[in-house]
Parts: sequence; C-alpha cells; structure tokens
Amino acid sequence: MKGLILSGGAGTRLRPITHTSAKQLVPIANKPILFYGIEAMARAGIREIGIIVGSTREEIKSAVGDGSQFGVKVTYIPQDEPLGLAHCVLIADKFLGDDDFIMYLGDNMLEQGLEEFVTDFESARASKNENDKPSAQILLCHVEDPRHFGVAEVDKNGHVVRLVEKPKDPPSDLALVGVYLFDKTINKAVRSIKPSARGELEITDAIQWLVDNKLSVRHKVLQGWWIDTGKKDPLLECNRLVLDAMTPRMDGTVDAASQIQGRVTIEKGAKISNSRIRGPVVIGPDAIVEDSYIGPYTSLGKNCRVIKSEMEHSVVLDGSSIVGVSKLTDSLIGRDVEVIRSIQQPRALRLMLGDDSKVELE
Ligand code: DAU
Repeated sequence: MKGLILSGGAGTRLRPITHTSAKQLVPIANKPILFYGIEAMARAGIREIGIIVGSTREEIKSAVGDGSQFGVKVTYIPQDEPLGLAHCVLIADKFLGDDDFIMYLGDNMLEQGLEEFVTDFESARASKNENDKPSAQILLCHVEDPRHFGVAEVDKNGHVVRLVEKPKDPPSDLALVGVYLFDKTINKAVRSIKPSARGELEITDAIQWLVDNKLSVRHKVLQGWWIDTGKKDPLLECNRLVLDAMTPRMDGTVDAASQIQGRVTIEKGAKISNSRIRGPVVIGPDAIVEDSYIGPYTSLGKNCRVIKSEMEHSVVLDGSSIVGVSKLTDSLIGRDVEVIRSIQQPRALRLMLGDDSKVELE
C-alpha cells in the first residue's frame, strides 16, 4: 500500500503565520504538523509516500527531505493550483499506479494511530468474495458543528449512503476526517466528477460517485481526538493535547534561581534563568527565558527569547521575542515576531500585523 499526503493548498487560514511558509509546518509541541502524519503512516507500515506540494514546496522539501529520517521514501508531486482534494489524486496517478493507498490531509492530527485503519482495509480487500471487497474506507467523527466539514449519512444497516461537502443543513453529525483509504477505482471516480460550486474537485463527490456506482464504501468511527489544525483555536487545543501526552526531557540549562514544575521539556542550548516554568511546556533549542513565568500548555520554538514576561497556553514559533509583556495567553505567534513593551513617547500601540491577524487588547 502507498501513502499520499496533501500539503498543497493556498494555506490561507494561517496567513500571518504562514505568509511565506506552509501551514502544515506549523509546529505542535515543536514538531511540524506534517511530521505527525508521516510518522503515523510509517508506523502503519507505509514505505512509499507521495506528497502533494503547492506554492510552499521548497519549504516542505527542505523539512521532509527524501523521507529517510522517517524510514520512508518520499516522492514530491507538484500541484500548481489548489484545485481540490480529488485533483490531488488525479495528478498523483503515475505515483499511485494501480496500488491501494491511504490519503492523509497534511493539516489533520489524530490521537489514534493508522495501523488498525490500514490493516482493517487490507484484510477486507483480501476477501475471496469480490462483492465484499471495499473500494474505499472513510473515517468519521461525531462533531458539534458539521457544517465546516464533509458530512456522511450512514443508514441503519451501517452503510454509507450519502456524502456532502460543507452542507448548510447537515444530514448527520458525522464529519469526514482527513484520512481515506482507496483502491484504484478512485482514479476513475476523480475523472468522472465535475468541480463543485467553490471550483474544486471534491474528494467527497468522488466517494459519492463510488456509492452511486454501487461500490462498497466502508466506514469507521474515530476513537480519540481529531483536529483540523487549520485554525488558531484548534491549533492551540491540539498543542494542549499533545503536550499532555509528552514525556519530559532536560537537555538545556536551568540556573539555581529558577523553578521547574510538572512535565517540562527543555531542548539543547536553551537557558532558563530566574524564571518559573510550569508544565506541560516545551522550550525549544537555544531559547532564552529570563526573569519570566511560562505557564501550562506553552510551546516555545527554537531561538525564542522571553524576557521579563508572563505567558501561558500559547505557541511561539522560531526566533520570536517576548519582552516586558505582563500576561500573554491563548496566543499563536509566528516566526521572528517581536512582542515588546515600548518606552518610546508618546505612549501608543505600534503594530505591524499580517493579513487575518487578531489582537485582543485588555
Ligand atoms: O479536515 C477534514 C476536512 O478536510 C473534510 O471533512 C472535508 O470533507 C475535506 O474537503 C477537507 O476540507 P478542508 O476545507 O479542511 O480542506 P483544505 O482545503 O483545508 O485542505 C486540506 C489539506 O489538503 C491541506 O493540507 C491543504 C491540502 N490541499 C488542499 C487543496 C484544496 C492540497 O494539497 N491541494 C488542494 O487542492
């Protein structure tokens, strides 16, 4: 079985963070989101992975390389425009050939591994009875507001009967999680559908095509948490869930005037002085924390500086500085950002914010 990971797309939702960078490389507990997907595939025994790359292809290539760091072989498949998830399958045809494959949306994170999902599909596909062989297997999750997702309707016999993309009036609360298993029939499906109202070839429509053509689409309901990290609050929430399961590690230096409480990982080269860190927290390599408090569910990236500040429940990407800020919370801060208390007169707020930024003042 092969793997296909989708990391193209416009990446618009996290534009201030990802203006020139890929939203799939935003770190959760200091590890890029995309890496969790690749690792989950590798653990499920997938050795050949195709990655769909869009305008951020160079950044993704330099982070993932040839895949050897994950024990897999990566093939990059360029997509010039984000024309939809089914379009990704269409352009991956040479890589996929006639093989079965697992497709994973690069901004999705799941608590559950992929092993069971994959072996389940493989054993159903090995059935001697042709009619029992599924053409696809989808993963569903009960959600509060299904309108933001693809939604599946399952009949009382457990058969998937209808799929709709981001419906105004959802037929159920079962959202399609961004992990799908397919056999080669999907290649025909993606060539048979038309672009949706938003101009994309929707994978949801391609799966509906399978249903309409009486092909078997199995489903599983997800155990554990699932987050589509493409938004600020889910991203902070995901950081919280991953930090909760983290094993602490101490590779940096902490002076005698500092206090470390709870589960805290301090990476190599990081220096903590006269500060209190209350876990779960990750402090990235070569970061500096001085005269500060860092509270639960905070991830500081590489080379960050937190000086005379208090913060918690936040994700700060590499190279950013927080200086003289008394209470920073629930925040997502991009790369090389400065949040500083100014002594310049007249006293005023001086901001330089990217598109889609949000600042909440006290
Ligand atoms: O997260 C689950 C949802 O993902 C499903 O419930 C929906 O049915 C499915 O359509 C999808 O919806 P999104 O609107 O969240 O998809 P998004 O545009 O965010 O794209 C998901 C990933 O695929 C993201 O990593 C970017 C990548 N992508 C997207 C498009 C449209 C591509 O690589 N190429 C594309 O053309």
